[in-house]
Amino acid sequence: MILSNTKVELVTRHNKAVYRDGNRLVKVFNERKPGSDVFNEALNDERVSEAGGRVPHVLEVSQVKDGEWEGSWALALEYIPGRALDDIMADDKQNVEKYVRQFVELQLQVQSADAPLLNRQKDKIRRMINSVKSVDPSVRYDLQMRLDGIKGGTKVCHGDFVPSNIIMPEDGSEPYVIDWAHVTAGIPEVDAAQTYLLFKIDYPEIADTYLSAYSKISDTAKQVIMNWVPVVAAAELARGRQQREKFLLAQVEAVFDYL
Ligand SMILES: Nc1ncnc2c1ncn2[C@@H]1O[C@H](COP(=O)(O)OP(=O)(O)OP(=O)(O)O)[C@@H](O)[C@H]1O
Ligand SMILES: [Mg+2]
Repeated sequence: MILSNTKVELVTRHNKAVYRDGNRLVKVFNERKPGSDVFNEALNDERVSEAGGRVPHVLEVSQVKDGEWEGSWALALEYIPGRALDDIMADDKQNVEKYVRQFVELQLQVQSADAPLLNRQKDKIRRMINSVKSVDPSVRYDLQMRLDGIKGGTKVCHGDFVPSNIIMPEDGSEPYVIDWAHVTAGIPEVDAAQTYLLFKIDYPEIADTYLSAYSKISDTAKQVIMNWVPVVAAAELARGRQQREKFLLAQVEAVFDYL
């Protein structure tokens, strides 16, 4: 891939940089990111799109040819002009409940599609939990038993469904959902627990608003969602984000004080 000199940097994270380059959105990953992960994200984008999702299309996956990123894997997508929902919510705080309801409706719309060819939620979570040695083995066993006790499900579960991953197009058309690196085929309640956990971390003041809205609109008991919170919190620990570790361990262990 060739990046132009007129590219504009949108965000930089520990493992990547995201640019707008003309009508392309380019995610460039650092040298530690395996190419297979980048192809997996691109494959997810197209699978979700084929399942009927409104997703920016993949334009290219390749290694950068020169400049500071030479040799790094990069993913180019259609650039969608618009604003992320977290930005819009921050500017219009008095309507936050309305946005949370729209957000939940969009999540339910995503989850209504079947995509059995995606990676399996159950397998992915089991693998992640297994790798987290900071959680007591008896606790991990209990969490894995919860997973074993359910049928896997084939619904599209985004895995990182948060307001920053929703783009409201400037032409007023339907929202786009982005960032499909973590999507799986699975059970919607598990995905709702994941979103609740991420709200607790990034938007704690509206986490309960989200939970109530999801519960009401989807007609799912809050307890069913909360049952999965320690499971997704244990899996989240596998990502090794130091600053989240204490909080996630507390979410896992609160439920297991008896062990
Ligand atoms: N196709 C797109 N069109 C327009 N803007 C985009 C597009 N994809 C991403 N963006 C913008 O770039 C930001 C970062 O992109 P993205 O969410 O894919 O990566 P990320 O949040 O860094 O990934 P992760 O959550 O996996 O760490 C988004 O919040 C959004 O503002
Ligand atoms: Mg994102």
